[in-house]
Amino acid sequence: MVDLKYIGHSAFEIKNGDSAVLIDPLVSVNKKYKWKDEPITDILLTHAHGDHLGEAIDIAKKKDAEITAIVELAGYCKEQGAKVKGVNLGSWLQYSWGRAIFLPAYHSSSLPDGRYGGCAASILLDVDGVRIFHAGDTCLTGEMKTIRELYAPQIALLPIGGRYTMDVEHAAMAAKWLGAKTVIPMHYGTFQEIQADLEKFHKLIALNNTVCQILNPAELK
Ligand code: NI
Ligand code: MN
Repeated sequence: MVDLKYIGHSAFEIKNGDSAVLIDPLVSVNKKYKWKDEPITDILLTHAHGDHLGEAIDIAKKKDAEITAIVELAGYCKEQGAKVKGVNLGSWLQYSWGRAIFLPAYHSSSLPDGRYGGCAASILLDVDGVRIFHAGDTCLTGEMKTIRELYAPQIALLPIGGRYTMDVEHAAMAAKWLGAKTVIPMHYGTFQEIQADLEKFHKLIALNNTVCQILNPAELK
């Protein structure tokens, strides 16, 4: 049984049986999310920016979880004392809860100390046949058509806040290109520059018969 939880911003927990993976764990945005009680075995990071690295290092250390990230970012996390798996784009990685592959995202990536964080990534997860695409921070890219052809994701987690990522119009196009029937918007409303018109997003993606599931982190159970 695959359980997907939206923590807030770009942070998600995906649980499968007795293991769970966190993606971009900026868990400080949601006091209701009690990571200490969750069976977290892995943390996947799309890129090095603070709003995605979040509390990853602290959680990894306390839960003895492994951080998977692009090699430059993984190197930084290792320096901070976390267990890491350094990877790059384009190869399936096996885990206790399923498998994942890091894919291209068009975005920048710098470490908290200003060093280069490696390339930014999107991540496709396959958890017992449920294919979930976490776009990370990216603009709309033609890669999404290839991702549909190769992986046919059923669920897409897409940034809609604009300014640093896709906005609602581009995210609606991304949903269409990815062919995902369920879209969960993310990376909006957390700070002033990334406010988004959810109603407009709803209308735009309904045109493609896609279901927009707006998850409210404040209602997290
Ligand atoms: Ni970013
Ligand atoms: Mn971001």
